[in-house]
Amino acid sequence: MNCFSNKQKADFSSSVLKWFDLHGRTQLPWQSNKTAYRVWLSEIMLQQTQVATVIPYYQRFLKSFPTIQTLADASIDHVLQHWQGLGYYARARNLHCAAQIMRDKYQSEFPLEMSEVLALPGIGRSTAGAILTFACNQSWPILDGNVKRVLARCYQVEGWYGTAKTMAELWQITEQLTPKTKADDYNQAMMDLGALVCTKSKPDCENCPLTQSCDSFSNDTQYLYPGKKPNKKVKPKKQTLMLLHYYENQLLLYRRPPVGIWGGLWSLPEVESDQDLSEWQNQNLGYTTAPKEIKSDLLRHQFTHFSLDISVAIIALDHLPARVSDTTDFKFIDQRAIPNYGLPTPVSKLLALKLCVR
Ligand code: ADE
Repeated sequence: MNCFSNKQKADFSSSVLKWFDLHGRTQLPWQSNKTAYRVWLSEIMLQQTQVATVIPYYQRFLKSFPTIQTLADASIDHVLQHWQGLGYYARARNLHCAAQIMRDKYQSEFPLEMSEVLALPGIGRSTAGAILTFACNQSWPILDGNVKRVLARCYQVEGWYGTAKTMAELWQITEQLTPKTKADDYNQAMMDLGALVCTKSKPDCENCPLTQSCDSFSNDTQYLYPGKKPNKKVKPKKQTLMLLHYYENQLLLYRRPPVGIWGGLWSLPEVESDQDLSEWQNQNLGYTTAPKEIKSDLLRHQFTHFSLDISVAIIALDHLPARVSDTTDFKFIDQRAIPNYGLPTPVSKLLALKLCVR
């Protein structure tokens, strides 16, 4: 357990704040015209995603949903369409759901009490701390991926982030070191230090303001921290056959169930193998049509916990099935309307190959 003296705390934060004045990022789009809504949106998009990737998504999203109320009143399909390609779609569903809670409970304002923020879907302790610090200059500790790495190296915190003990130790450190004033600049600086200086590989210790207090720097142990996940398993491989049914210009889409991968996104229907195709067609279309072509292992998509090999069956229909017209989870769309749907990235890639243009 680390226990810091007042002098140690003051030295640490003043080094961080001095560095921030010279090198911190101050021109990011969510740092101007700050509102809690804009800060919240940026923090959610920045979870697991790099700044450069987020910027265009952030700008497009705000243009379409400039306020909490417009977001709350939008359809989930419209919201997911703006998230398409950013991944981790639960973030978008939670964002939409939280906006509706704010509309119904807080007059479409973002709540500024920590306990209320933590009760919103999709917001954990670090994100809540970041939002309240950046949006209204409260002082809360944060512990995102970048801050964890800086602190784990500075204080040689043992163990992997996946264990409660390691996380408790890191929280205890960040709680003590976060200053009461200027916590906004301090927290931004810690994120920036992790992203720009104390990087995963090749940390730039020469330009780090914390070398004085960094145990890893003194002991040359930067590469031992943070501790790795023990015996990392090889990712399992899964296979799927996506069904590209088309009639003239129309293509059959399927809305995936709200939970699970790509929850709620429009996609192509899938079966495990071509053995299952005619049964699927009988059940869902009311008749069968043999594929014109099957393209095996056309794409491999990496998920966090498995990789998915995608094959595609291309099926030309000679009429539109009557059955599809009365379901909400299947529809034929004009191929030119594909960009209007929030399709999962590999499905967009696959459709861009124009496999069913006659
Ligand atoms: N990652 C998460 N929040 C961030 C922020 N405010 N600036 C830069 N990177 C971040």
